[in-house]
Amino acid sequence: MEKIAVIGSGYVGLVTGACFAEIGHQVICVDNNKDKVAALKQGNVPIYEPGLSQLVLKNVKRKRLIFSDSIKEGVENSKAIFIAVGTPPKAKGEADLSAIEDVAEEIAKYMNSYRLIIQKSTVPIATGDWVESTVRMFKKKHAKFDIASNPEFLREGSAIDDFMHPDRIIIGVEAKKARELLSRIYKPIKARIVFTDVKSAELIKHASNSFLAMKISFINSLSRICDASGADIDKVAQGLGMDKRIGKDFLKASLGYGGFCFPKDLAAFINICERLGYNPELLKATAKVNEQQKEFFFRKIKKALWNISGKRIAVLGLSFKPNTDDIRLSPAIDIIRMLKKAGAKIATFDPRAMEKAKRELSGVDYCDNAYDAITGADCLVLATDWPQFSRLDLKRVKRLLKRPIIVDGRNMFDPVNMKRLGFQYSSIGRNA
Ligand code: UDX
Repeated sequence: MEKIAVIGSGYVGLVTGACFAEIGHQVICVDNNKDKVAALKQGNVPIYEPGLSQLVLKNVKRKRLIFSDSIKEGVENSKAIFIAVGTPPKAKGEADLSAIEDVAEEIAKYMNSYRLIIQKSTVPIATGDWVESTVRMFKKKHAKFDIASNPEFLREGSAIDDFMHPDRIIIGVEAKKARELLSRIYKPIKARIVFTDVKSAELIKHASNSFLAMKISFINSLSRICDASGADIDKVAQGLGMDKRIGKDFLKASLGYGGFCFPKDLAAFINICERLGYNPELLKATAKVNEQQKEFFFRKIKKALWNISGKRIAVLGLSFKPNTDDIRLSPAIDIIRMLKKAGAKIATFDPRAMEKAKRELSGVDYCDNAYDAITGADCLVLATDWPQFSRLDLKRVKRLLKRPIIVDGRNMFDPVNMKRLGFQYSSIGRNA
C-alpha cells in the first residue's frame, strides 16, 4: 500500500484516485473547489462515468479514499503526488499551465521530506522541467523530491476499464527511487510498463492522441472519396483495418471527432511544434479535415431537405460520443448551431447530456425521449451513436416523421434496409 495524493478532482483526477484506492492504495483526492469536495464527501460524483460513483462510494466506505480542499493535507500525508489539474486551451490553442504552476508551488511549500511529484494532465514537452524548477524554488532546503510524467490514456465512457486494463503504462522518470515507487504503485495492474525520460513520456501522450485523431481524419477523407465515387466506406475500412500494421480501431467514418481531448490536444501540440520551430503540416491537416467533415455533414442535411429554413429537425445525440454526458467540442452541438443559423427549428434528445446542453444551447426543444423529438420532424439527424438509437422502432419512426428523411452522421443503419423501409436515408461515405 502506498500513500497517494491526487491534486485536481476533475475527470482524470477522480478516476485515477478512485482506481488507485480500488487497487489497494491510501488516496487523498484534493480539489480547490470547496463545493465539489463537500459533494464528493457526501458521495455525490459530479460527472457521469459508468461505474465511477460505485467505485468512489465503495472506497470511501473502506476508508481508502478521502477528499480534501487542502493541498497541505494531501502533501503531508502522501509520498506520491499526482497532478491532475486542468490545462484548458488559450486563444491560439496553447495549453494554459498556470494551474500546474500554482499547484507545484503549493506542493513545494508543504513538503517536509521526500516526495515524488507526478504529472498526469496532458502537458507540452518540457513542462516537467518547469515543475521541477518551480518546486526547487519554493521548497524547504532539506526536502528532496523527484519529478515524473505518467500520462493518462483514459477514454470517457470506459475510463475505469481503461485504467484497470491499459494497453501499456507510460512512465517518464529519471531517478531510480522514483521509478521503484511508481512500479510499486502500478504493481496490481497487469500491463507492460514503458519507462522513458520525462520529455519522451510527455511527447508520447500528444503523439498518441494526434495519431488517433489523424486516423479518424484519414477515414473521413476516404469517406468523401467514397461519397463522390460510389465506393463504400465501411467495406474500405474493413479491408484497410485487417492489415495488422494499420489496425481496425478508430476507422469509423463520422461527422467528425469531438470531445475535450482530441481537438484541444491537437491544437496544443501544433502550438508546441511551432514554438519549437517545426511546422506540423500533418497535424494541421488532421484538424482541418475534421472541421471540413462537419461542414460536409451539414451540406448533406441541406441536400436531403432542400430548404432548411423553417424546417423542424430532430437531432438525436448531443454528447461527443456515447456513454458520457460530456458535450465539450461535440460535433452534435456544432451541427445544431449550424442548422439553427440556417433557420431550422431543432428538437433534440440525448440519454445523458441534456442538462449540460441546456446550459450551453438555448432556443432548442429538449424532448423527453427520441420519439417525442422525432414527432412531426421534417428530418431525423443522428449525431451520436448511442446504442439505444440503433434499436429505435423504425416503423414507428417513419410514422412519426413528417417526411421520411434520415441523415446519419454515425452510419448506424444498413442503407439497403433503410431504403426497403421507405426512408430517404443518407449516411457517411455509403451510397446504397
Ligand atoms: C481520447 C483518447 O482515446 C484517450 O486515450 C485520451 O486519454 C483522451 O482522448 P475520448 O476523448 O474519451 O478519449 O474519446 P474517444 O473514444 O477517443 O473518441 C474521440 C472522438 O472520436 C469521439 O467524438 C468519437 O465519436 C470519435 N471517433 C472515434 C470517430 O469519429 N471514429 C472512430 O473510429 C473513433
